[in-house]
Amino acid sequence: MIGRLHHVGIAVARLDEAVAKYRSLGFPADPPETVESEGVRLAFVTEGDTRLELLESIRPDGVIARFIAKRGEGMHHVAFAVPDIRKAIADLRAKGFQVIDSEPRRGHGGRLVAFVHPRSLHGVLLELVQEGATERR
Ligand code: CO
Repeated sequence: MIGRLHHVGIAVARLDEAVAKYRSLGFPADPPETVESEGVRLAFVTEGDTRLELLESIRPDGVIARFIAKRGEGMHHVAFAVPDIRKAIADLRAKGFQVIDSEPRRGHGGRLVAFVHPRSLHGVLLELVQEGATERR
C-alpha cells in the first residue's frame, strides 16, 4: 500500500541559506516554489533517489513557523509515494490512522498530497504523495 520513500521534509528558517548549505554538500537544488495554500516556500534538493524538501514559512503563523517556534529547525515529515491517494487515505483511516486530510490537497509541483497526524505514527508526521499523472518528475 505504501510505496517508496518520496522525500524527507525539513523545516528551515531561511530557505536560501539552507539551499546553499545543501548545495555545498553536493545536492543539486531545484528552483524554489511557493505553495500559497500551505503557507510555504520550498525547494527540493535531490541526489539520485535521495530527495529532501526544504520548507520555509511565508507567514509568521504558518505551520512551519509554528513548528520552528516550538521545536526549532529540523526534520518535519517523511513522505511516501502511493499509487492512489484516495484509496490510501481510506485504507489508513480503516486501520485507525488519524489522516488529517479527508480529501487530498495540492502540494509541491501540483501533486496530490495528504498528511497523517504524528499521533498516529510515533511522533512522525507522514505525508502521502500520489505518483502518476500529477507527478512531474
Ligand atoms: Co513534503
